[in-house]
Amino acid sequence: MKRIVIAVGTLLLATGVVLAQQDVAVRQQNQMKSQGKAMYGVILKMVKGETPYDQAAVNAALTALEADVSKIPTAFNVNPKEDVVNASFGSSQKIWQNKADFDAKVPPVSKAIADAKGTAKDAASLKVAFDAIQAKCTDCHETYRIKLK
Ligand code: HEC
Repeated sequence: MKRIVIAVGTLLLATGVVLAQQDVAVRQQNQMKSQGKAMYGVILKMVKGETPYDQAAVNAALTALEADVSKIPTAFNVNPKEDVVNASFGSSQKIWQNKADFDAKVPPVSKAIADAKGTAKDAASLKVAFDAIQAKCTDCHETYRIKLK
């Protein structure tokens, strides 16, 4: 009986760990998705002229983006050691082998966003700002993001 209890207990613990890891991976991905919403759902649409230029919406998107980006180093402190189920993108294990280098990719993004706040005034200047921010996002993705499908 004692053995069964221990076995069940171990099984439950193991399941708990798996759930927790999936949870961490989902949280990390949700943060990136939120950044994607500001960049592609709001800003890129205005750059392409799909939605009219709206300074208040640009400011709100840049502010939300800035807040999200500043949380990247903390959000990725824990290695979930697994990908989000069915996800298109995953995290490279290199993140946790070179966490200092990973974290160092963040300040340039924050700087590009801060610069954009002062320069984005119409669709043309927003395009310049978008490209500058996007280049810094890509600088991390090239090394630390894996395309899963
Ligand atoms: C310091 C590294 C780093 C920076 C900087 C970074 N990302 Fe990511 N991003 C990642 C990693 C790692 C993943 C893969 C994790 C995942 O999606 O689960 C990812 C995934 C994504 C995804 C895919 C989410 C999905 O659907 O799976 C989007 C969208 C994204 N990032 C947007 C951005 C944008 C926009 C910026 C710049 C404003 C940015 N990221 C900056 C590391 C970074």
